[in-house]
Amino acid sequence: MNNEFELIYEGKAKKVFSHDDEDKVIIEFKDDATAFNALKKAKFEGKGKLNCLISAKIFEILINKNIPTHFIKLLNENTLIAKKIRVIPLEIVLRNIAYGSLCKQTTIKPGTILAKPLIDIYLKNDELNDPLITQDRIELMNILSSRDLDLIIDLTLKINGILKSFFENIKLQLVDFKLEFGYDSKNNIILGDEISPDNCRLWDLNQKNDTIVSLDKDRFRNDLGDLIEAYSEINRRINEFV
Ligand code: TMP
Repeated sequence: MNNEFELIYEGKAKKVFSHDDEDKVIIEFKDDATAFNALKKAKFEGKGKLNCLISAKIFEILINKNIPTHFIKLLNENTLIAKKIRVIPLEIVLRNIAYGSLCKQTTIKPGTILAKPLIDIYLKNDELNDPLITQDRIELMNILSSRDLDLIIDLTLKINGILKSFFENIKLQLVDFKLEFGYDSKNNIILGDEISPDNCRLWDLNQKNDTIVSLDKDRFRNDLGDLIEAYSEINRRINEFV
């Protein structure tokens, strides 16, 4: 990004720049990958571009189904223009299949199909290591009213319905994903952040036996093979379908 725009915020995987229009921002996707609250770090050339292109396509699908999102348009392959939001400091995780931290923190076996989607909410705070949080604590901290929390949960369930069937069409199983929301300039709650293999678990359904083939950031988290190959495959399947 040239110096014309001011860097407003730099996160682990993205940079946010100002836009001439003060209601908009420019989001640049980085090639950096982190796991376990940045205890593990690496750079994968091309990851930023793949996550940006995948996110843009997914946001378009959601917008077509009337989900309000911050996405406006792609600026180039690793940068998009989005509505400026006041980020709500919560990470909303929805799980269709038990895996990852759910299985480390409970006695539920990895791979268990959940009878109904489970929503786990985490406080977005690196210093506190993003702890699991309760509805009462959210209200106590004045992060959200119970009405707005209900609205976010409702949107998350709707997004799951749309994305689960979309990914099934391209032979991917949506195991779980993480969303972030914010308030736009009119104080409406809209979906922010990204939707990519960095924050979704996606398993290949083109497997003849029961082996799990992760096409997502678990490749990096758990050293399961080439990350760019997996992300490219997801991008290829999305583009073939859409
Ligand atoms: P978990 O099983 O580690 O709690 O992860 C659940 C989902 O949330 C998985 O798809 C990865 C995603 N996730 C993020 O996007 N950011 C995070 O910081 C964490 C911990 C998980």
